[in-house]
Amino acid sequence: MTAQPSLAFSKESGAIPALGFGTGAMTGGMSAEAVAAALKAGYRHIDTARKYGTEPAVGEALRASGLPRGDIFLTTKVSHENLRAGDFARSVDDSLAALKVDTIDLLLVHWPNPNIALAETMPALAKAKRQGLARHIGIANFNIALLDQAVALCPEPLVALQAEYHPYLDQSKLLAAVRRHKLVFIAYCPLARGRLFGDPVLDDIAEKRGRSVAQVALRWLLQQDVAAIPFSSKPERIADNFDVFDFTLSDDETARIGALKRANGRVANPAGRVPGGWD
Ligand SMILES: NC(=O)c1ccc[n+]([C@@H]2O[C@H](COP(=O)([O-])OP(=O)(O)OC[C@H]3O[C@@H](n4cnc5c(N)ncnc54)[C@H](OP(=O)(O)O)[C@@H]3O)[C@@H](O)[C@H]2O)c1
Repeated sequence: MTAQPSLAFSKESGAIPALGFGTGAMTGGMSAEAVAAALKAGYRHIDTARKYGTEPAVGEALRASGLPRGDIFLTTKVSHENLRAGDFARSVDDSLAALKVDTIDLLLVHWPNPNIALAETMPALAKAKRQGLARHIGIANFNIALLDQAVALCPEPLVALQAEYHPYLDQSKLLAAVRRHKLVFIAYCPLARGRLFGDPVLDDIAEKRGRSVAQVALRWLLQQDVAAIPFSSKPERIADNFDVFDFTLSDDETARIGALKRANGRVANPAGRVPGGWD
């Protein structure tokens, strides 16, 4: 098993393991098994959400692994329906109960809600941290204007923004804004939910290097100091996706992959949920 690097927070001590395991696409019976396979492969960063319904399975797999709680970086999220202060606090309590843990390593607002003011949500997020229910806090699916507002309105420092990012989606502007605020960018759907497979450029690079397309795509993100949280239901792919710490893409390969961005590259796009749109 290869040791994995972490991405440091700049505003406070702590770090996020650069490669995590996503559980958003898990269903029913395979859930705890998939997380168990990820922990066995070496993942120490697990991504769940109240909305996914996977918190119980994640908690079960963590306990069954026998790994010390402090070795795991656990992220969960509060859904956009629950961003008023009272609902927010209840959602955090429900997450802790479902996971059967005392604290969450990274608590995120899952999506902004056009009908609930950030001036109410951000203090509720900060309160969860001040109460010790979350060690670190952040946001997901915020555009640049909302990110700027969230940072200004949050009484505690944010450490991360989670958003879709992969070779088909240009996130250069959002990435620059995230860096300006000194947050960690966590890429979700890093494999574009499977759409990258069969891409001639990625196939070519993967073949020449004797690597899989998934490994090349994940490596491309990691080399930008972006964390990634791929999902697979298959133990061999879960392990393959984690085996990305012993090779480096060249500048030419990086540029070829960067040129794959396309106008319609987004795969996760619930209509109208981001006030002001994505850009
Ligand atoms: N914050 C948010 O709003 C948000 C939104 C979406 C996702 N997320 C998080 O991001 C995580 C990842 O996103 P995602 O699950 O939607 O998409 P993804 O990780 O981009 O892609 C997963 C798909 O790729 C396939 N796959 C994985 N590894 C493979 C490999 N080595 N070779 C071939 N196929 C492979 C999987 O199929 P098999 O199962 O058949 O391998 C699955 O269909 C989610 O699970 C969730 O935790 C967050």
